[in-house]
Amino acid sequence: MSSVMKSIRWCKVVEIYNEFEEKCATSNDKLKHIAEAMTEEMHAGLASEGGSKLKMLVSYVDNLPTGEEEGVYYALDLGGTNFRVLRVQLAGKSGIESQEFMEVSIPPQLMVGTSKALFDYIATQLAKFVAKESDKFHLPPGRKRELGFTFSFPVMQLSIASGTLMRWTKGFSIDDMIGQDVVAELTQAMKRKGIDMHVSALVNDTVGTLAGGRYNNNDVAIAVILGTGTNAAYVERAKDIPKWHGAPPKSGEMVINTEWGNFRSSHLPLTEYDNALDSESLNPGQQMYEKMISGMYMGEILRRVLCRMADEAALFGDTVPPKLKTPFVLRTPEMSAMHHDTSEDLRVVGKKLNDILEISNTSLETRKLIVNLCNIIATRGARLAAAGILGILRKTGRHVAKNGETAKTVIAMDGGLYEHYTEYRKCMENTIHELVGDELSQHVKLVHSNDGSGIGAALLAASHSQYSKDRN
Ligand code: GLC
Repeated sequence: MSSVMKSIRWCKVVEIYNEFEEKCATSNDKLKHIAEAMTEEMHAGLASEGGSKLKMLVSYVDNLPTGEEEGVYYALDLGGTNFRVLRVQLAGKSGIESQEFMEVSIPPQLMVGTSKALFDYIATQLAKFVAKESDKFHLPPGRKRELGFTFSFPVMQLSIASGTLMRWTKGFSIDDMIGQDVVAELTQAMKRKGIDMHVSALVNDTVGTLAGGRYNNNDVAIAVILGTGTNAAYVERAKDIPKWHGAPPKSGEMVINTEWGNFRSSHLPLTEYDNALDSESLNPGQQMYEKMISGMYMGEILRRVLCRMADEAALFGDTVPPKLKTPFVLRTPEMSAMHHDTSEDLRVVGKKLNDILEISNTSLETRKLIVNLCNIIATRGARLAAAGILGILRKTGRHVAKNGETAKTVIAMDGGLYEHYTEYRKCMENTIHELVGDELSQHVKLVHSNDGSGIGAALLAASHSQYSKDRN
């Protein structure tokens, strides 16, 4: 053992560890309280505008895809560190005939610059993509190309194809966009870049995922994103939306974007690390649930715990390693890689510490400690996400059998965290099972809706096409 290792004050490490573990605990009882609180907030958010921290945004999607959609449609999916553009050729009952996409990462400075800079960048990339349209895609003569825009931030929709940005989340902060119509911003940028395209639908990623999920499976009624951020959308009965004063939809239903990331309850197991993360964030006091359970933040929570252990218990030597002091340097995918390290000597953990934090020569004991910390953070996040899902099941009456009949509920899931963080996903699925019980869990199924949000937006552009026969 090196001399540096000898200086670790294990008593102090254990004390910090135990306190953190205890504060992060999520008993099933606690989770049930959280689910109840979620259901209550959903009611309050539907009752009146601003009635709850849950915005419960009306999406203007009152009809989900039927599988009859036809033609070529584009989608632009913006909401995390990357954006995607895609085109699909829909062939009615035969499904998606062709599909192509391009993914581009967003330069970090554009996430905190001006709306013109961001949208010009996006439109430039979109123009490149459109220019490469192959002959697998058939645009009928005389028609403009149409696009579904997945914009994954809280938007007050004014119609299916317009809406104003309420606030930013997930590390974006572009002041001149707040209150602006996001479709108008995109349309102007497309004009500047010479793209002749019509935006036919504006949707949140959860709404897109719900639409994409329904296209493949008729029983999909809820969609949940667990990625950089987190959110859920679901199908609500229009009569249960007291704040909705528009014409009653023919279907009697309306998709609601809950914006559950902003959920907050006294039952949430908050720690000093969450509070510090929050107060130093770009959006203090907002998105507390999101900050505990989503991909943008979990690695940062781990970094903060390690920082305290380094500072107060000399976990990595006499001084705190400089890299460890950099906010957001430890990303959730790296945390996931460490958590999943099954090698006997925890080689992956050692390598990550070395590569990202420039910390070398850690003992096996230290590496085990780090894996356990990953487990505490991921378990808390996954179990809280499961409680949120139970909250939605409760709101839609799907948590109990009615007249001996149990509704079949399929939940379309997407997001990098769900897709890649296996321990998180398994824990969330097990927790749902624990919370709803053996019998009901037979009727609740989670399906991965891969890139559902982009395809869903294209499908909604198709069903809301300006050329659609039903429209006048
Ligand atoms: C954030 C956004 C929300 C989005 C979610 C998942 O919570 O506010 O609109 O759906 O992230 O991307």
